[in-house]
Amino acid sequence: MPLLARGNIQSALHPRGSDADRIADLGIVMFIGGGAIFLTVIAFALLALFGPERVRRMLRQHAFIVGGGIVFPVAALSVLLVYALLTSAALMRAGNPPALRIDVTGEMWWWRVVYVDDAGRRIMETANEIRIAAGRPVEMRLTTADVIHSFWVPNLAGKTDMIPGHVNRQRLVAHAPGVFRGECAEYCGAQHAKMAFEVVALEPAAFDAWLASQARPAPSPVDALALRGRQAFFTHDCGKCHTIRGTEATGTAGPDLTHVGSRLSLAAGILPNSIGAFGGWIAASQHIKPGNEMPSFDRLSAEDLRALAAYMESLQ
Ligand code: CUA
Repeated sequence: MPLLARGNIQSALHPRGSDADRIADLGIVMFIGGGAIFLTVIAFALLALFGPERVRRMLRQHAFIVGGGIVFPVAALSVLLVYALLTSAALMRAGNPPALRIDVTGEMWWWRVVYVDDAGRRIMETANEIRIAAGRPVEMRLTTADVIHSFWVPNLAGKTDMIPGHVNRQRLVAHAPGVFRGECAEYCGAQHAKMAFEVVALEPAAFDAWLASQARPAPSPVDALALRGRQAFFTHDCGKCHTIRGTEATGTAGPDLTHVGSRLSLAAGILPNSIGAFGGWIAASQHIKPGNEMPSFDRLSAEDLRALAAYMESLQ
């Protein structure tokens, strides 16, 4: 898998999708155009102040002022405006019908992700991680459960706001397999900065296998520790807020945990996925992300906490 360097997995300057290509080109043209005009204006200003008398006389002429002050800016800005409008029109154009639809809902402060087939049937729900097949266009339908968020995967496409009572669409295509980071790009409260996610583009066959495995119910724990963890999960009513498909946990307030152990990160892209991080998050979620809806379960015994974390990690 040709992976981007760690620093470039969230970068509009390293486009890896069709929309991001167009946006990067637009940005470069605007930057070069703006830079050239800036340097020209500064050069004329310096000449007007310190240049030879002959040049200064020319710069004072009426025709030069009208030409450089009105005609040139109008012409240059019109060309850039037309180019920018054509680019935005190309971004809006639908292209091929998408192979897959993914409904993403912004929540304070995480992402609910629902895969929907072409007949509009729900395939499965997950959270904070979006996997797609490289080369296949995906239709993202973006909305919010609370305040305005903004969905942004800089390597693949531009920002799209998630607005209450409204569904915005975005077409995502990744040219090749890779892992990209997305962020909420609209201030949405105290933990706005801790509202991230991963987009993983897979080879189409690997994606199909992944989607099929995610649609299955959770695996039953096999070892004693994870079994004890499952017991703790229900003793502490975790299922009131979380769903684990295949069990009696059907809460929908928080992320679906059916395959949480298979995700790249925890708590909306802010913790690595490990038993230690699960334990830390469950015991101290209000310390790690103050104000989020999950209370810190700091009264669990150390053994229950370790068991619960092991159960979460077993949900592959
Ligand atoms: Cu959600 Cu900022």
